[in-house]
Amino acid sequence: PQSTPLTGKRVTITAGPTQEAIDPVRYISNYSSGKMGYALARAARNAGADVTLISGPVSLATPQGCQRIDVKSARQMHQTALEVATRSDIFIACAAVADYRVGDIAEQKIKKSNEQMQLTLVRNPDIVAAVASLAQRPFVVGFAAETQDVARYAKDKMQRKHLDMIAANNVASPDSGFNVDENALQVFWADGEKTLPRASKQQLADQLIKLITTQYQHETN
Ligand code: C5P
Repeated sequence: PQSTPLTGKRVTITAGPTQEAIDPVRYISNYSSGKMGYALARAARNAGADVTLISGPVSLATPQGCQRIDVKSARQMHQTALEVATRSDIFIACAAVADYRVGDIAEQKIKKSNEQMQLTLVRNPDIVAAVASLAQRPFVVGFAAETQDVARYAKDKMQRKHLDMIAANNVASPDSGFNVDENALQVFWADGEKTLPRASKQQLADQLIKLITTQYQHETN
């Protein structure tokens, strides 16, 4: 029989990229596939949790038994995450949120001219940091994609954003990170760390959900 340590627990996961509109027909985005977030949703569901996926635009099927809320922009994801997080036990921020959005979205399609064009970009809200600073906060897990000094930058990020745990991957190595099926993670929490060696995103997700469950139980008991 399958072990279901997260039965009765509500787990919310952000996944995929965000799309930041430029005008009615154009946007700025990134190469995130959503695979890791969706794998985590499946793993949390298999562990018995009630899972809500807050998903940017991806071409993946909704994992069996998970609730999915589709969003496009970082601001939509932010608003949805704050609502859902207040009734969550565990919040995992796996989305590749665009750091900037277009300041002034054109209402009509922008016409080309022979001149240069400038877009003014403004900062998007930090969703996981906002969830971690809620008065009634869930156990909060973030991700970090680094190209160097992975441990130092990840631990710094964990402290700055007030996370309970952070999973870091080295995106400098060509076979991990965005839009690939395999990855490796270095996971940190306040008083420990663990390396999850290269494996499929689903295997890593299963292991990460186990680690999160252990730390969550440790912190809430
Ligand atoms: O600061 P950085 O983008 O490296 O942090 C990555 C972590 O923060 C990920 O967990 C990501 O989902 C989350 N994040 C967020 N909102 C943002 C930017 C990042 O939730 N605007």
